[in-house]
Amino acid sequence: MNREEIIIPETAVVRQRDFQKKIRDMFAARKAHPTACVETFGCQQNVADGQRLMGMLEAMGFTLSEDAGEADLVLLNTCAIREHAEQRVFGNLGILTHSKKENPEQMIVLCGCMAQEERVSKRIRESYRHVDLVFGPQALWRFPELLWQAYETKERVFSVADEPGGIAEGLPVVRERGVKAWVSIMYGCNNFCSYCIVPYVRGRERSRSPEAVLAEVRELVEAGYKDITLLGQNVNSYGNDLETGYRFPDLLEDIDKIPGDYWIRFMSSHPKDASPRLFDTMAKCGHVARQLHLPFQSGNNRVLGEMNRRYTREKYLELIRYARSVMPELVLTSDVIIGFPGETETEAMDTISLVEEVGFDALFTFIYSPRPGTKAAAMPDPVPRAEKQKWFDKLLDVQNRQSAGIHAGYVGKMLRVLVDGESDDGDFPLSSRTEGNRLVRLKGGKELVGQFLDVHVTGSNTWALYGEPV
Ligand code: 5AD
Ligand code: SF4
Repeated sequence: MNREEIIIPETAVVRQRDFQKKIRDMFAARKAHPTACVETFGCQQNVADGQRLMGMLEAMGFTLSEDAGEADLVLLNTCAIREHAEQRVFGNLGILTHSKKENPEQMIVLCGCMAQEERVSKRIRESYRHVDLVFGPQALWRFPELLWQAYETKERVFSVADEPGGIAEGLPVVRERGVKAWVSIMYGCNNFCSYCIVPYVRGRERSRSPEAVLAEVRELVEAGYKDITLLGQNVNSYGNDLETGYRFPDLLEDIDKIPGDYWIRFMSSHPKDASPRLFDTMAKCGHVARQLHLPFQSGNNRVLGEMNRRYTREKYLELIRYARSVMPELVLTSDVIIGFPGETETEAMDTISLVEEVGFDALFTFIYSPRPGTKAAAMPDPVPRAEKQKWFDKLLDVQNRQSAGIHAGYVGKMLRVLVDGESDDGDFPLSSRTEGNRLVRLKGGKELVGQFLDVHVTGSNTWALYGEPV
Protein backbone atom coordinates (compact mmCIF):
# COMPACT_ATOMS: atom_id res chain seq x y z
CA MET A 1 0.00 0.00 0.00
CA ASN A 2 1.33 3.45 -0.76
CA ARG A 3 1.07 6.46 1.55
CA GLU A 4 -1.81 8.09 -0.33
CA GLU A 5 -3.96 5.05 0.29
CA ILE A 6 -3.01 4.93 3.97
CA ILE A 7 -3.63 8.56 4.94
CA ILE A 8 -7.36 9.08 5.27
CA PRO A 9 -8.13 12.37 3.48
CA GLU A 10 -8.89 15.31 5.74
CA THR A 11 -12.21 15.82 3.92
CA ALA A 12 -13.31 12.30 4.95
CA VAL A 13 -12.37 12.97 8.57
CA VAL A 14 -14.12 16.34 8.50
CA ARG A 15 -17.24 14.66 7.10
CA GLN A 16 -17.47 12.68 10.34
CA ARG A 17 -18.08 15.99 12.12
CA ASP A 18 -21.31 16.31 10.14
CA PHE A 19 -22.47 13.01 11.63
CA GLN A 20 -21.42 14.19 15.08
CA LYS A 21 -23.61 17.24 14.57
CA LYS A 22 -26.56 15.18 13.31
CA ILE A 23 -26.49 13.11 16.49
CA ARG A 24 -26.10 16.21 18.67
CA ASP A 25 -29.06 17.83 16.89
CA MET A 26 -31.16 14.69 17.20
CA PHE A 27 -30.79 14.71 21.01
CA ALA A 28 -31.23 18.49 21.19
CA ALA A 29 -34.53 18.21 19.29
CA ARG A 30 -35.69 15.71 21.92
CA LYS A 31 -34.40 18.04 24.66
CA ALA A 32 -32.41 15.04 25.88
CA HIS A 33 -29.06 15.08 27.68
CA PRO A 34 -27.64 11.69 26.74
CA THR A 35 -25.00 9.89 28.76
CA ALA A 36 -22.43 7.37 27.55
CA CYS A 37 -20.47 4.77 29.48
CA VAL A 38 -17.20 3.63 27.89
CA GLU A 39 -15.41 0.57 29.15
CA THR A 40 -11.96 -0.19 27.75
CA PHE A 41 -10.23 -3.56 28.13
CA GLY A 42 -6.64 -4.51 27.35
CA CYS A 43 -3.49 -2.69 26.34
CA GLN A 44 -2.44 0.98 26.27
CA GLN A 45 -3.16 1.16 22.56
CA ASN A 46 -6.75 0.34 23.41
CA VAL A 47 -6.75 2.95 26.18
CA ALA A 48 -5.57 5.52 23.61
CA ASP A 49 -8.34 4.38 21.22
CA GLY A 50 -10.84 4.67 24.07
CA GLN A 51 -9.78 8.31 24.61
CA ARG A 52 -10.56 9.04 20.94
CA LEU A 53 -13.93 7.28 21.19
CA MET A 54 -14.77 9.36 24.27
CA GLY A 55 -13.70 12.49 22.39
CA MET A 56 -16.10 11.65 19.58
CA LEU A 57 -18.91 10.87 22.03
CA GLU A 58 -18.47 14.26 23.72
CA ALA A 59 -18.52 15.90 20.30
CA MET A 60 -21.82 14.09 19.67
CA GLY A 61 -23.30 15.67 22.78
CA PHE A 62 -22.91 12.82 25.26
CA THR A 63 -21.83 13.33 28.85
CA LEU A 64 -19.51 10.56 29.99
CA SER A 65 -20.72 8.44 32.89
CA GLU A 66 -19.60 5.36 34.81
CA ASP A 67 -23.06 3.90 35.14
CA ALA A 68 -23.58 1.31 32.39
CA GLY A 69 -27.06 0.38 33.63
CA GLU A 70 -28.42 3.92 33.33
CA ALA A 71 -26.42 5.18 30.34
CA ASP A 72 -28.10 5.94 27.01
CA LEU A 73 -25.12 4.41 25.25
CA VAL A 74 -22.73 1.72 26.45
CA LEU A 75 -19.54 1.10 24.53
CA LEU A 76 -17.27 -1.87 25.17
CA ASN A 77 -13.82 -1.29 23.66
CA THR A 78 -12.56 -4.86 23.69
CA CYS A 79 -9.32 -6.86 23.75
CA ALA A 80 -8.65 -10.21 22.03
CA ILE A 81 -5.14 -11.01 23.22
CA ARG A 82 -6.11 -13.90 25.51
CA GLU A 83 -9.23 -15.96 26.04
CA HIS A 84 -9.76 -14.52 29.50
CA ALA A 85 -10.10 -10.98 28.08
CA GLU A 86 -12.83 -12.20 25.72
CA GLN A 87 -14.71 -14.04 28.45
CA ARG A 88 -14.87 -10.86 30.50
CA VAL A 89 -16.46 -9.01 27.59
CA PHE A 90 -19.04 -11.73 26.99
CA GLY A 91 -19.79 -11.59 30.73
CA ASN A 92 -20.37 -7.83 30.47
CA LEU A 93 -22.58 -8.27 27.42
CA GLY A 94 -24.66 -10.81 29.32
CA ILE A 95 -25.26 -8.29 32.12
CA LEU A 96 -26.32 -5.65 29.59
CA THR A 97 -29.32 -7.75 28.49
CA HIS A 98 -31.00 -6.58 31.72
CA SER A 99 -30.50 -2.84 31.18
CA LYS A 100 -31.55 -3.22 27.54
CA LYS A 101 -34.79 -4.90 28.68
CA GLU A 102 -35.51 -2.00 31.03
CA ASN A 103 -34.56 0.56 28.41
CA PRO A 104 -34.94 -0.77 24.83
CA GLU A 105 -33.62 2.58 23.54
CA GLN A 106 -30.23 1.93 25.12
CA MET A 107 -27.56 1.81 22.39
CA ILE A 108 -25.04 -0.99 22.88
CA VAL A 109 -21.78 -0.73 20.97
CA LEU A 110 -19.00 -3.30 20.73
CA CYS A 111 -15.69 -2.28 19.18
CA GLY A 112 -11.96 -2.97 19.45
CA CYS A 113 -9.95 -6.08 18.65
CA MET A 114 -12.58 -8.71 19.51
CA ALA A 115 -15.12 -7.08 17.24
CA GLN A 116 -12.77 -7.61 14.31
CA GLU A 117 -12.65 -11.39 14.79
CA GLU A 118 -15.04 -13.14 12.44
CA ARG A 119 -15.80 -15.83 15.02
CA VAL A 120 -16.85 -13.15 17.51
CA SER A 121 -18.90 -10.94 15.19
CA LYS A 122 -20.77 -14.07 14.05
CA ARG A 123 -21.54 -14.99 17.64
CA ILE A 124 -22.72 -11.44 18.37
CA ARG A 125 -24.91 -11.44 15.28
CA GLU A 126 -26.54 -14.71 16.26
CA SER A 127 -26.64 -14.82 20.04
CA TYR A 128 -26.25 -11.27 21.38
CA ARG A 129 -29.07 -9.57 19.55
CA HIS A 130 -29.17 -6.65 22.00
CA VAL A 131 -25.87 -5.35 20.57
CA ASP A 132 -26.70 -2.58 18.08
CA LEU A 133 -23.36 -1.57 16.61
CA VAL A 134 -20.17 -3.58 16.04
CA PHE A 135 -16.99 -2.24 14.46
CA GLY A 136 -13.29 -3.09 14.44
CA PRO A 137 -10.21 -0.92 15.11
CA GLN A 138 -9.76 0.02 11.44
CA ALA A 139 -13.24 1.61 11.39
CA LEU A 140 -12.79 3.62 14.61
CA TRP A 141 -12.49 6.97 12.83
CA ARG A 142 -15.94 6.37 11.24
CA PHE A 143 -17.68 5.83 14.60
CA PRO A 144 -19.95 8.94 14.25
CA GLU A 145 -21.19 7.81 10.84
CA LEU A 146 -21.79 4.23 11.99
CA LEU A 147 -23.61 5.39 15.09
CA TRP A 148 -25.79 7.75 13.09
CA GLN A 149 -26.65 4.86 10.77
CA ALA A 150 -27.66 2.73 13.76
CA TYR A 151 -29.87 5.53 15.17
CA GLU A 152 -31.42 6.38 11.85
CA THR A 153 -32.13 2.93 10.44
CA LYS A 154 -32.92 1.37 13.85
CA GLU A 155 -31.17 -1.68 12.45
CA ARG A 156 -28.07 -3.43 13.70
CA VAL A 157 -24.88 -2.13 12.06
CA PHE A 158 -21.74 -4.26 11.57
CA SER A 159 -18.55 -2.77 10.14
CA VAL A 160 -16.05 -5.58 10.49
CA ALA A 161 -14.64 -6.09 6.99
CA ASP A 162 -11.00 -7.18 6.94
CA GLU A 163 -9.29 -3.84 6.16
CA PRO A 164 -5.55 -3.13 6.11
CA GLY A 165 -6.36 0.14 7.91
CA GLY A 166 -5.52 3.81 7.46
CA ILE A 167 -4.39 6.79 9.51
CA ALA A 168 -6.89 9.46 10.51
CA GLU A 169 -5.48 12.65 12.02
CA GLY A 170 -7.42 15.24 13.97
CA LEU A 171 -9.93 13.02 15.82
CA PRO A 172 -11.22 14.55 19.06
CA VAL A 173 -9.83 13.14 22.30
CA VAL A 174 -10.59 13.07 26.02
CA ARG A 175 -7.32 12.68 27.92
CA GLU A 176 -6.82 11.48 31.44
CA ARG A 177 -6.47 14.41 33.79
CA GLY A 178 -3.05 14.59 35.35
CA VAL A 179 0.44 14.07 34.06
CA LYS A 180 0.30 10.96 31.86
CA ALA A 181 -0.60 10.85 28.19
CA TRP A 182 -0.45 8.27 25.41
CA VAL A 183 0.52 8.99 21.82
CA SER A 184 0.08 6.35 19.13
CA ILE A 185 2.92 6.71 16.66
CA MET A 186 1.90 3.78 14.50
CA TYR A 187 -0.89 1.28 14.10
CA GLY A 188 -1.11 -2.40 13.17
CA CYS A 189 1.49 -5.14 13.12
CA ASN A 190 3.26 -7.09 10.36
CA ASN A 191 5.10 -9.58 12.50
CA PHE A 192 2.67 -12.48 12.78
CA CYS A 193 4.20 -14.04 15.88
CA SER A 194 2.53 -17.43 15.66
CA TYR A 195 0.57 -17.14 18.95
CA CYS A 196 -0.70 -13.60 18.41
CA ILE A 197 -4.06 -12.35 17.15
CA VAL A 198 -3.02 -8.69 16.83
CA PRO A 199 -1.92 -8.70 13.16
CA TYR A 200 -5.28 -10.23 12.22
CA VAL A 201 -7.36 -7.62 14.01
CA ARG A 202 -5.33 -4.39 13.80
CA GLY A 203 -4.33 -4.47 10.16
CA ARG A 204 -0.96 -3.72 8.57
CA GLU A 205 1.81 -1.64 10.07
CA ARG A 206 1.48 2.07 9.28
CA SER A 207 3.37 5.02 10.76
CA ARG A 208 1.96 8.46 11.49
CA SER A 209 4.01 11.23 9.95
CA PRO A 210 6.78 12.63 12.16
CA GLU A 211 5.17 16.09 11.87
CA ALA A 212 1.85 14.82 13.29
CA VAL A 213 3.55 13.01 16.18
CA LEU A 214 5.80 15.99 16.99
CA ALA A 215 2.87 18.39 16.96
CA GLU A 216 0.89 16.17 19.31
CA VAL A 217 3.76 15.73 21.77
CA ARG A 218 4.47 19.48 21.73
CA GLU A 219 0.82 20.18 22.47
CA LEU A 220 0.85 17.73 25.38
CA VAL A 221 4.01 19.19 26.88
CA GLU A 222 2.56 22.68 26.58
CA ALA A 223 -0.64 21.48 28.27
CA GLY A 224 1.42 20.28 31.24
CA TYR A 225 1.67 16.52 30.60
CA LYS A 226 4.95 15.24 31.98
CA ASP A 227 4.99 11.51 31.35
CA ILE A 228 4.30 10.76 27.70
CA THR A 229 4.35 7.25 26.27
CA LEU A 230 4.73 6.62 22.54
CA LEU A 231 2.70 3.60 21.49
CA GLY A 232 2.97 1.02 18.75
CA GLN A 233 2.90 -2.79 18.55
CA ASN A 234 6.54 -2.59 17.49
CA VAL A 235 7.85 0.97 17.69
CA ASN A 236 11.22 -0.15 16.33
CA SER A 237 9.73 -0.57 12.89
CA TYR A 238 8.40 3.01 12.97
CA GLY A 239 9.13 4.65 9.64
CA ASN A 240 9.59 1.45 7.60
CA ASP A 241 6.60 2.47 5.52
CA LEU A 242 7.49 6.16 5.20
CA GLU A 243 10.15 5.48 2.58
CA THR A 244 12.13 8.53 3.70
CA GLY A 245 14.73 6.71 5.79
CA TYR A 246 13.35 8.49 8.90
CA ARG A 247 13.32 5.91 11.70
CA PHE A 248 12.34 5.59 15.36
CA PRO A 249 15.65 6.95 16.76
CA ASP A 250 15.19 10.02 14.51
CA LEU A 251 11.75 10.54 16.00
CA LEU A 252 13.11 10.25 19.54
CA GLU A 253 15.83 12.79 18.76
CA ASP A 254 13.33 15.25 17.32
CA ILE A 255 10.91 14.86 20.23
CA ASP A 256 13.80 15.35 22.65
CA LYS A 257 14.35 18.85 21.23
CA ILE A 258 10.90 19.98 22.43
CA PRO A 259 11.65 22.21 25.43
CA GLY A 260 10.07 21.44 28.81
CA ASP A 261 10.27 19.27 31.90
CA TYR A 262 8.91 15.86 30.86
CA TRP A 263 9.78 12.20 30.27
CA ILE A 264 9.24 10.29 27.05
CA ARG A 265 8.73 6.50 27.16
CA PHE A 266 7.78 4.04 24.45
CA MET A 267 6.32 0.56 24.08
CA SER A 268 6.56 -2.08 22.82
CA SER A 269 9.88 -2.85 21.24
CA HIS A 270 10.65 -5.99 19.26
CA PRO A 271 14.12 -7.45 19.82
CA LYS A 272 14.47 -8.32 16.14
CA ASP A 273 14.34 -4.58 15.29
CA ALA A 274 15.89 -3.00 18.39
CA SER A 275 19.33 -1.69 17.49
CA PRO A 276 22.44 -0.30 19.17
CA ARG A 277 21.51 2.99 17.52
CA LEU A 278 18.24 3.03 19.49
CA PHE A 279 20.12 2.57 22.77
CA ASP A 280 22.74 5.19 21.85
CA THR A 281 19.90 7.61 21.10
CA MET A 282 18.14 6.86 24.39
CA ALA A 283 21.40 7.41 26.24
CA LYS A 284 22.01 10.83 24.76
CA CYS A 285 18.43 12.23 24.84
CA GLY A 286 17.71 13.96 28.15
CA HIS A 287 13.94 13.57 28.00
CA VAL A 288 13.92 9.88 27.05
CA ALA A 289 13.45 7.77 30.17
CA ARG A 290 16.11 5.13 30.85
CA GLN A 291 13.46 2.46 30.71
CA LEU A 292 12.99 -0.33 28.22
CA HIS A 293 10.16 -2.80 27.79
CA LEU A 294 11.66 -5.44 25.52
CA PRO A 295 9.48 -8.59 25.36
CA PHE A 296 11.52 -11.77 24.89
CA GLN A 297 8.61 -14.29 25.21
CA SER A 298 10.86 -17.36 25.54
CA GLY A 299 14.45 -18.14 26.46
CA ASN A 300 14.66 -21.22 24.23
CA ASN A 301 15.73 -20.97 20.60
CA ARG A 302 13.52 -23.78 19.31
CA VAL A 303 10.45 -22.20 20.90
CA LEU A 304 11.45 -18.72 19.65
CA GLY A 305 11.63 -20.20 16.14
CA GLU A 306 8.18 -21.78 16.48
CA MET A 307 6.88 -18.44 17.76
CA ASN A 308 8.28 -16.77 14.62
CA ARG A 309 10.15 -14.22 16.70
CA ARG A 310 13.20 -14.04 14.44
CA TYR A 311 15.91 -13.60 17.09
CA THR A 312 17.76 -15.97 19.38
CA ARG A 313 18.39 -16.06 23.10
CA GLU A 314 22.00 -15.06 22.37
CA LYS A 315 20.96 -12.06 20.24
CA TYR A 316 18.57 -10.94 22.98
CA LEU A 317 21.24 -11.18 25.68
CA GLU A 318 23.66 -9.28 23.44
CA LEU A 319 21.11 -6.46 23.01
CA ILE A 320 20.64 -6.20 26.76
CA ARG A 321 24.39 -6.19 27.36
CA TYR A 322 24.81 -3.33 24.89
CA ALA A 323 21.86 -1.35 26.26
CA ARG A 324 23.25 -1.63 29.79
CA SER A 325 26.74 -0.68 28.65
CA VAL A 326 25.47 2.69 27.43
CA MET A 327 22.79 3.10 30.15
CA PRO A 328 23.97 1.41 33.36
CA GLU A 329 20.90 2.68 35.23
CA LEU A 330 18.44 1.20 32.67
CA VAL A 331 15.22 -0.24 34.12
CA LEU A 332 14.23 -3.32 32.14
CA THR A 333 10.91 -5.10 31.83
CA SER A 334 9.63 -7.80 29.52
CA ASP A 335 6.74 -10.07 28.48
CA VAL A 336 6.96 -13.85 28.75
CA ILE A 337 4.74 -16.69 27.61
CA ILE A 338 4.85 -20.03 29.41
CA GLY A 339 3.35 -23.18 27.88
CA PHE A 340 3.57 -22.40 24.16
CA PRO A 341 2.30 -25.49 22.23
CA GLY A 342 4.88 -28.25 22.38
CA GLU A 343 7.10 -26.45 24.92
CA THR A 344 8.82 -28.98 27.19
CA GLU A 345 9.72 -28.53 30.82
CA THR A 346 13.41 -28.15 29.89
CA GLU A 347 12.51 -25.42 27.40
CA ALA A 348 10.38 -23.59 29.96
CA MET A 349 13.33 -23.76 32.36
CA ASP A 350 15.44 -22.02 29.68
CA THR A 351 13.00 -19.12 29.96
CA ILE A 352 13.47 -19.07 33.72
CA SER A 353 17.25 -19.21 33.38
CA LEU A 354 17.13 -16.22 31.01
CA VAL A 355 15.08 -14.34 33.61
CA GLU A 356 17.73 -15.16 36.21
CA GLU A 357 20.54 -14.20 33.87
CA VAL A 358 19.10 -10.80 32.90
CA GLY A 359 17.60 -9.76 36.24
CA PHE A 360 14.53 -7.84 35.02
CA ASP A 361 13.05 -5.13 37.22
CA ALA A 362 9.58 -6.53 36.50
CA LEU A 363 7.93 -9.03 34.16
CA PHE A 364 4.51 -9.40 32.56
CA THR A 365 3.95 -13.15 32.59
CA PHE A 366 1.32 -15.07 30.68
CA ILE A 367 0.26 -18.68 30.24
CA TYR A 368 -0.23 -19.40 26.56
CA SER A 369 -3.82 -18.94 25.43
CA PRO A 370 -4.82 -20.36 22.04
CA ARG A 371 -6.26 -17.73 19.69
CA PRO A 372 -8.37 -19.30 16.95
CA GLY A 373 -7.06 -18.42 13.50
CA THR A 374 -3.40 -18.07 14.55
CA LYS A 375 -0.76 -20.57 13.48
CA ALA A 376 0.01 -21.72 17.02
CA ALA A 377 -3.63 -22.54 17.74
CA ALA A 378 -3.35 -25.37 15.20
CA MET A 379 -0.19 -26.86 16.80
CA PRO A 380 -0.38 -29.92 19.05
CA ASP A 381 -0.45 -28.80 22.69
CA PRO A 382 -0.14 -31.95 24.79
CA VAL A 383 1.03 -30.48 28.15
CA PRO A 384 -1.79 -30.26 30.70
CA ARG A 385 -2.67 -26.87 32.11
CA ALA A 386 -1.75 -27.94 35.65
CA GLU A 387 1.78 -28.74 34.50
CA LYS A 388 2.14 -25.34 32.78
CA GLN A 389 0.86 -23.72 35.94
CA LYS A 390 3.72 -25.31 37.92
CA TRP A 391 6.32 -23.85 35.51
CA PHE A 392 4.52 -20.52 35.63
CA ASP A 393 4.52 -20.45 39.44
CA LYS A 394 8.22 -21.20 39.44
CA LEU A 395 8.81 -18.30 37.04
CA LEU A 396 6.77 -15.97 39.23
CA ASP A 397 8.67 -17.05 42.29
CA VAL A 398 12.03 -16.32 40.62
CA GLN A 399 10.84 -12.93 39.35
CA ASN A 400 9.23 -11.89 42.63
CA ARG A 401 12.46 -12.57 44.49
CA GLN A 402 14.32 -10.66 41.80
CA SER A 403 12.00 -7.63 41.97
CA ALA A 404 12.08 -7.60 45.77
CA GLY A 405 15.91 -7.72 45.71
CA ILE A 406 16.22 -4.90 43.18
CA HIS A 407 13.71 -2.79 45.12
CA ALA A 408 15.53 -3.40 48.43
CA GLY A 409 18.68 -2.04 46.76
CA TYR A 410 16.99 1.37 46.44
CA VAL A 411 16.38 1.76 50.18
CA GLY A 412 18.46 4.57 51.65
CA LYS A 413 18.97 6.18 48.25
CA MET A 414 17.68 9.44 46.79
CA LEU A 415 15.54 9.29 43.66
CA ARG A 416 13.86 11.79 41.39
CA VAL A 417 10.16 10.99 40.95
CA LEU A 418 7.10 12.44 39.27
CA VAL A 419 4.06 12.50 41.56
CA ASP A 420 1.24 11.16 39.39
CA GLY A 421 -1.68 10.88 41.76
CA GLU A 422 -3.05 9.94 45.14
CA SER A 423 -2.94 6.41 46.50
CA ASP A 424 -5.24 4.40 48.75
CA ASP A 425 -2.51 3.85 51.36
CA GLY A 426 -3.23 6.17 54.34
CA ASP A 427 0.41 6.23 55.48
CA PHE A 428 1.73 6.94 52.00
CA PRO A 429 -1.05 8.96 50.37
CA LEU A 430 0.76 9.80 47.12
CA SER A 431 1.73 7.67 44.17
CA SER A 432 4.75 8.56 42.09
CA ARG A 433 6.98 7.08 39.41
CA THR A 434 10.72 7.02 38.92
CA GLU A 435 12.27 7.66 35.54
CA GLY A 436 12.39 3.86 35.20
CA ASN A 437 8.62 3.76 35.88
CA ARG A 438 8.97 2.07 39.28
CA LEU A 439 6.09 2.85 41.65
CA VAL A 440 7.05 4.90 44.73
CA ARG A 441 4.43 5.43 47.42
CA LEU A 442 5.08 8.73 49.13
CA LYS A 443 4.32 10.69 52.23
CA GLY A 444 3.10 14.23 51.49
CA GLY A 445 0.11 16.39 50.59
CA LYS A 446 -1.86 16.25 47.39
CA GLU A 447 -0.60 19.69 46.33
CA LEU A 448 2.54 17.80 45.24
CA VAL A 449 0.66 15.94 42.47
CA GLY A 450 2.12 16.84 39.09
CA GLN A 451 5.56 17.79 40.43
CA PHE A 452 8.98 16.29 39.97
CA LEU A 453 10.53 15.75 43.43
CA ASP A 454 13.65 14.35 45.01
CA VAL A 455 12.68 11.66 47.49
CA HIS A 456 14.44 9.57 50.06
CA VAL A 457 13.58 5.86 49.74
CA THR A 458 12.73 4.44 53.16
CA GLY A 459 11.24 1.02 52.36
CA SER A 460 10.35 -1.47 49.65
CA ASN A 461 8.56 -4.69 48.76
CA THR A 462 8.13 -6.77 45.58
CA TRP A 463 5.85 -4.27 43.86
CA ALA A 464 6.73 -0.83 45.18
CA LEU A 465 9.14 1.50 46.90
CA TYR A 466 8.21 3.76 49.82
CA GLY A 467 9.64 7.15 50.48
CA GLU A 468 9.38 10.76 51.61
CA PRO A 469 10.17 14.04 49.89
CA VAL A 470 13.56 15.45 50.85
N1 5AD B 1 -1.29 -16.19 24.85
C1 5AD B 1 -0.61 -15.68 25.91
N2 5AD B 1 0.01 -14.50 25.88
C2 5AD B 1 -0.02 -13.79 24.72
N3 5AD B 1 0.51 -12.61 24.38
C3 5AD B 1 0.17 -12.34 23.11
N4 5AD B 1 -0.57 -13.33 22.60
C4 5AD B 1 -0.70 -14.26 23.58
C5 5AD B 1 -1.35 -15.52 23.67
N5 5AD B 1 -2.01 -16.04 22.64
C6 5AD B 1 1.33 -11.83 25.30
C7 5AD B 1 2.73 -11.58 24.73
C8 5AD B 1 2.68 -10.13 24.34
C9 5AD B 1 1.74 -9.56 25.37
C10 5AD B 1 1.14 -8.26 25.03
O1 5AD B 1 0.74 -10.55 25.48
O2 5AD B 1 3.66 -11.78 25.77
O3 5AD B 1 3.95 -9.50 24.36
FE1 SF4 C 1 1.69 -9.74 18.45
FE2 SF4 C 1 4.24 -10.17 17.74
FE3 SF4 C 1 2.86 -8.10 16.65
FE4 SF4 C 1 3.58 -8.02 19.26
S1 SF4 C 1 5.00 -8.07 17.48
S2 SF4 C 1 1.56 -7.49 18.39
S3 SF4 C 1 3.42 -10.19 19.87
S4 SF4 C 1 2.44 -10.29 16.39
